Amino acid sequence: MKKTVRDVDVKGKRVLVRCDFNVPMKEGKITDDTRIVSALPTVKYLIENEAKIILMSHMGRPKGEPKPEYSLRPVAERLSELLGQRVIFTPSPEVVDDEVRGKAGELKPGEVMLLENVRFRKEETKNEEPFTGQLAALGNIFVNDAFGTAHRAHCSTAGIAGYLPSVSGFLIEKEVKFLGKVLDDPERPLAAIMGGAKVGDKIPVIKNLLGKVDILIIGGGMAYTFFKAMGYEIGKSILDADNVTLAGELMKEADERGVKLLLPVDTVCAAEFDNSSRKAVYDRDRIPEDMMGMDIGPKTVELCREALKDAKTIVWNGPAGVFEMPAFAEGTRAIAEMLAESDAVTVIGGGDSAAAVAQFGLEDKMTHISTGGGASLEFLEGRELPGITCLEDK
Ligand code: 3PG
Repeated sequence: MKKTVRDVDVKGKRVLVRCDFNVPMKEGKITDDTRIVSALPTVKYLIENEAKIILMSHMGRPKGEPKPEYSLRPVAERLSELLGQRVIFTPSPEVVDDEVRGKAGELKPGEVMLLENVRFRKEETKNEEPFTGQLAALGNIFVNDAFGTAHRAHCSTAGIAGYLPSVSGFLIEKEVKFLGKVLDDPERPLAAIMGGAKVGDKIPVIKNLLGKVDILIIGGGMAYTFFKAMGYEIGKSILDADNVTLAGELMKEADERGVKLLLPVDTVCAAEFDNSSRKAVYDRDRIPEDMMGMDIGPKTVELCREALKDAKTIVWNGPAGVFEMPAFAEGTRAIAEMLAESDAVTVIGGGDSAAAVAQFGLEDKMTHISTGGGASLEFLEGRELPGITCLEDK
């Protein structure tokens, strides 16, 4: 268990908080502020407890150079609206300079300031000096609340913990609670639904989960690599050719471990990778040469429903099909609705599945939706996340 902001006296202290404000933007506007909203409990707690708050984050991958399109100014504006108070933004291309140091020194209890994108500095992603020390010198306490970036060992996520008392914020606490419970102490039966295009990307997660789950459902693009391993022809469907053997081994391992493995039995296929393409449903051993699998079929949806009906915990990572195209979103929608209606603890592993749940307007119906893409994957792989490991134990 890691210490949290509750375990330190923040009153009157300058508290440096790493958030993940890496939000999607279009033409200078934030298109989804979930990650900003998710940071509010920690920021509000610190305001109420009279800390002097210095927020830091990255946005995008500006590769160590100040690039205006990656400025955090729009985040400062949105955060200010959400908090109902001014957020002091310091637009320094150096992120930390004399003016920023001056502003940090003048902060009054309850005031909030946001530094410019930490990735404007080339040291950030290399976790190098002098940037780590410059950041640390701004504050008295480090709070990491950037779950989405906790898998990165950067200056602002991990290096800084070498200088300051370091604790977690409420978002990291919540993420670890829900994702950790899936791995360590789930209510059973525990079901995992894995999707996404490439088996290769998900192998470590599937391997880790095979030792823990009662039911494993595989959908999405990676199902076709499993079909290939079963000896079926998959037409023009996506194939992770390097991992066909491994897919076969995973099926064998599931069998040996007594895990109920559910692979699609039918699939919605299209002639082209296009929403308006000609489409038809085929059993998995009947995929025509000139068609490609785009979604799970209706028989598979019913098998999923049956398999999930008694589950007490369900973790979902990766869509069942190409849900961004309405013509091929039905399988993913059906899974999202099953989880929304289920009494089970439902944990959405971030990234594309979180986007799918949002697209169907079902966010409020899930127990927990992770704010991490890569971070939640690495967590579910059972790996240590440097941004969490570096924090003090209780
Ligand atoms: C994310 O969106 O996954 C995080 O903000 C981390 O971003 P990164 O992959 O650029 O480190």
